[in-house]
Amino acid sequence: MFWLVMLMSAATSCVHAQLTAQTSVAPDLRECYTDTMLINRNNLPPTSMSVLIDIITKIEDNPNVNMDLRQLVVILLQTYRQDGIEYHQPGANIVSSSVLPFAPTSHSFYRNKLLLTKIIPGNLQVLSNNTINSTLKCALHNMISTTIDARIRGNENTCNTLAQYRDLRTIRDVSRHAMKDDVEILDLSKLNSADKNGQMRQFNPKDDIEYTDLNGVKSERQLLGESQCPILGGVVNTPWGAVSAGNVLAGIAGGAQFQTIPILELAKGSIIDDPNIQQFVTSTYPTTLAGDLAEAVLIQNIERGSTSISIGAAGNWNSTQAQRYYMLSSRTNIEISDPEIRGGMDGFILGNLVNSALQGSSLKLSQLLDMYYSARNGVFDSTRRACNRRNLIQELVTNTNLVAETYAFAAALDTNIPLRGTIIGGLEQPVNSAVTNFQSYVSNNLNDLSCFSTDISSNNYRLKTNLYLVVDSSWQYQTIYPAISFILDNIEVGKFGSSVTLLSAFDGNVIINKTFSLADFHIEYTMARHQSLLGGVNLETALTNIRIMMQSELENERTANYVGGNSTVILFLLSSSVQNTQLTWEQARILNETVPDLRMLYATATNQYDNLWTLVRDVHNDIRTISLNSDGNNAATAMNPVLASIEQVGRRIVNPLCGSTYNSESISGTRQFDDYVEPGSVNYYSISPNYFYGGNGNRRVRIVRTNAGMGSLVVCYSRFVTQPSQNSTTTGQGESDVICQTLASTGNVEIDLQNPCDGLWTVGSCPFFYISVSSLVPATTTTFTSICTDNACRFPYNIRYQVQINDFGCYSGCGRVGFSIVLLIFTYLLNYF
Ligand SMILES: *[C@@H]1O[C@H](CO)[C@@H](O)[C@H](O)[C@H]1NC(C)=O
Ligand SMILES: *[C@@H]1O[C@H](CO)[C@@H](O)[C@H](O)[C@H]1NC(C)=O
Ligand SMILES: *[C@@H]1O[C@H](CO)[C@@H](O)[C@H](O)[C@H]1NC(C)=O
Ligand SMILES: *[C@@H]1O[C@H](CO)[C@@H](O)[C@H](O)[C@H]1NC(C)=O
Ligand SMILES: *[C@@H]1O[C@H](CO)[C@@H](O)[C@H](O)[C@H]1NC(C)=O
Ligand SMILES: *[C@@H]1O[C@H](CO)[C@@H](O)[C@H](O)[C@H]1NC(C)=O
Ligand SMILES: *[C@@H]1O[C@H](CO)[C@@H](O)[C@H](O)[C@H]1NC(C)=O
Repeated sequence: MFWLVMLMSAATSCVHAQLTAQTSVAPDLRECYTDTMLINRNNLPPTSMSVLIDIITKIEDNPNVNMDLRQLVVILLQTYRQDGIEYHQPGANIVSSSVLPFAPTSHSFYRNKLLLTKIIPGNLQVLSNNTINSTLKCALHNMISTTIDARIRGNENTCNTLAQYRDLRTIRDVSRHAMKDDVEILDLSKLNSADKNGQMRQFNPKDDIEYTDLNGVKSERQLLGESQCPILGGVVNTPWGAVSAGNVLAGIAGGAQFQTIPILELAKGSIIDDPNIQQFVTSTYPTTLAGDLAEAVLIQNIERGSTSISIGAAGNWNSTQAQRYYMLSSRTNIEISDPEIRGGMDGFILGNLVNSALQGSSLKLSQLLDMYYSARNGVFDSTRRACNRRNLIQELVTNTNLVAETYAFAAALDTNIPLRGTIIGGLEQPVNSAVTNFQSYVSNNLNDLSCFSTDISSNNYRLKTNLYLVVDSSWQYQTIYPAISFILDNIEVGKFGSSVTLLSAFDGNVIINKTFSLADFHIEYTMARHQSLLGGVNLETALTNIRIMMQSELENERTANYVGGNSTVILFLLSSSVQNTQLTWEQARILNETVPDLRMLYATATNQYDNLWTLVRDVHNDIRTISLNSDGNNAATAMNPVLASIEQVGRRIVNPLCGSTYNSESISGTRQFDDYVEPGSVNYYSISPNYFYGGNGNRRVRIVRTNAGMGSLVVCYSRFVTQPSQNSTTTGQGESDVICQTLASTGNVEIDLQNPCDGLWTVGSCPFFYISVSSLVPATTTTFTSICTDNACRFPYNIRYQVQINDFGCYSGCGRVGFSIVLLIFTYLLNYF
């Protein structure tokens, strides 16, 4: 009975619940709950940090959004974050077309509302509804809004294969009477008009209506449903554990709008009377760790009577690639789950950085996230990475502060959440328990990838590959999709990385246009799209169309004056067995000769080596058999060798004048492009002999350093080692030589290509030229300064240099033809003289 007391007490003005549930979810977000396409998360891109960064980048790049990091992070939360939305089984007398059976009824809603209105209020603007389209909007909303969905899905038999779940307790079914009435929601358009003059921190109970007689609606994370492994929403995957992205952004916002707020301004009605209570909260705390801890304290203490507060709730994704569903292993004590803990830690760390080291910086939000969730270098300091969050938190947060902030916020939050009880003192002990348990949980239970393991397991180079996937429709989508997703994550499809294009193996036609957006590719490549591919594999037609497309790409590059910077790889993913005819081979040969630096790779379900070996350049590495499980759960293992082959293909350096015709008159003169390397990492290039086969005394490549930045650049080259590095330096062994030169802070390195094919009869028999540019920073360096503001710079500490080519030529790869004509003439001469 006593739970009603609290509901009736503080509210001086109640909205009488004639509102329908439709008014509950913010208007711009409603379509995420009404459109059947958007409700199904399988139609939205996976919830990974790279996809989140991709969507944020799209918003930053929108010309109507002119905001810095500080403004953007607040407005993102105000527009797209709405925590605690739950499904409620509509009552029998409700007309389904007029009622949205979702409402923000879970407790996390109240905390988020307090955050948005009082702690990080900004100016309460929202982004216009057309900033990103509905698919991206719903994806972003889902990625940053913490929710629990415990409806029965039907696949609960797999719950215990995700992770072990603990003590299962059946929760009283409240769903039947849940929707008679309604709770107030965060209607941003109302908030907008309510405050035009920055008065938000002035508490006005008339403008800020809270709750109503809920008639049994529970406010805690209430588990409306029976699923043994409820889905936790608002989680994104990172290599360093699943993270609640809403907490991360909220922490950054708390640092961006850094302030201390008297708890009396947050409270509604009378606050717990305790002289020990700190009278303010600091914005970075309630937005992150103290926020979740306070919630756990209130719910577990008041509603369940526990004085020992349980911290942490494990869970798992239900797939190994393209993760979309994070499932908790338990139904109880899930107020502060593992992803929320990680998100809270990361948000706190980043919020502090924004408020200290990054004051006045022009860093973008996407860059901040990209650097923090990166295997190397971090946020201007290699210790500031997700892999190091445990140490960072220990440095930044003292036990005393966390207790004081949690206690103060819990007291304020208590007056904002409808709970089934009233605190009349005695919160300090559960707060202490929560903080102690938090510290020990973080030290003992969060066993995420350490920085040491990150360092040894990550490459020191990044790819910029235009990848063309040629997909056979006879693959099951569930089998091939995870494999594709694995490759795309690892080649870093993205604005500063690789692109992907999907072609059909039936005829080589483009199915999904070239995109640098991971989100866009995943949105497009649905099961329905896959199943609509024409069946069968026709290598001859596919190769013919690919040849025509690639030759026209070369013509486009001629028009665009493209000197290089990316590599191009075609990867056939074949499930059916293939036929290789003379005509097929002929197409492969022409492609090989006219688009020489395009690499063709084949990955097949069964061993097709005998059919394919004549079609590739390197018979040992370019054909792989991939044994994928039908559910694709072994994609990483199966696809690793394929990835390794893609990684070996260097970025192209070309003479744009050649196009696809290789007119021998087209000598390049001097041309160049800019490229960028991260401190301590390497870029690899390869040059086809089609650009240097004949002799020319002025032919050379020059690497010129064009901005300051730390350390030196080391330029290495080789004819046989595809990834030449200083370690592999050899001299005096002839063709396997690797030669390196160091480039200090200014100057250039020149590589002569005057006569590198001397004595070789054909273009095809002359080996490629491989070049690497690596950044060498002293081993003791951990901090990096911001030097690069170019639009093409992924990270502000990237080092820019220029690749210049001089007098590159054009030599047709059709050397065989030339050669045979010579032979013919020779034979003719022999016969007649
Ligand atoms: C936002 O845009 C979508 C798609 O254009 C539209 O369906 C929806 O009604 C819009 N929402 C509002 C509140 O205008
Ligand atoms: C994960 O669970 C969701 C929700 O039940 C389901 O739609 C999806 O197919 C599952 N994914 C896998 C790989 O099992
Ligand atoms: C090369 O890659 C960069 C990004 O990594 C991209 O902006 C550029 O358009 C690409 N160029 C070509 C010709 O693919
Ligand atoms: C690809 O882009 C071109 C124009 O750039 C467009 O005409 C074509 O319809 C697009 N194809 C697909 C499959 O989206
Ligand atoms: C949203 O845009 C993406 C590309 O960014 C596209 O694939 C998707 O179909 C669009 N969704 C809607 C609903 O228009
Ligand atoms: C080169 O040496 C460095 C340091 O000794 C090592 O980290 C790196 O992996 C080596 N690279 C190769 C290609 O062996
Ligand atoms: C492509 O050219 C290289 C170099 O001449 C040769 O080794 C390879 O066999 C050729 N591949 C095809 C398919 O013609």
